[in-house]
Amino acid sequence: MADQILIDHLNEILKHEWTGVAQYSQASFITEGIWREVYAEKFLGDAKESFGHARLVGDKIVALGGVPVATRNEIQQSRDLQEVFTFSLAFEAKAVEMYSKAIELAGDDKPLVVFLEDILKEEQEGVDEYTKLLRNSNSSAATNPTLKTA
Ligand SMILES: [Fe+2]
Repeated sequence: MADQILIDHLNEILKHEWTGVAQYSQASFITEGIWREVYAEKFLGDAKESFGHARLVGDKIVALGGVPVATRNEIQQSRDLQEVFTFSLAFEAKAVEMYSKAIELAGDDKPLVVFLEDILKEEQEGVDEYTKLLRNSNSSAATNPTLKTA
């Protein structure tokens, strides 16, 4: 049986992914107004990505001899899109941190390291996307890049 510390940490990750399924689904449901056309589908896609990761991690926990959790953490929700982007960025950054730690715990188990790295890459893409979305605000010079060089 694999190291209990590793299995416990994978279960913390699973809990985080279940939180993502609920949090991004809720964001999709409650997005109204003109931006619904854009973001309802985007958030639903993020919920599906979290479900995909939950499925992979749950199956791996069983393969390692553990029992997957079926619980989640509290979700964050808001009708303010900027706020949703902000807590989505925090959610993705936490996932990067958690998978990075799992890779450390996996040690010399190369197949497990590769398995975790594949997911880590997608979590980092989430960080990059929400970082760019948050830059697209009135308070950011990125809305007018020429200002930076003027
Ligand atoms: Fe994920």
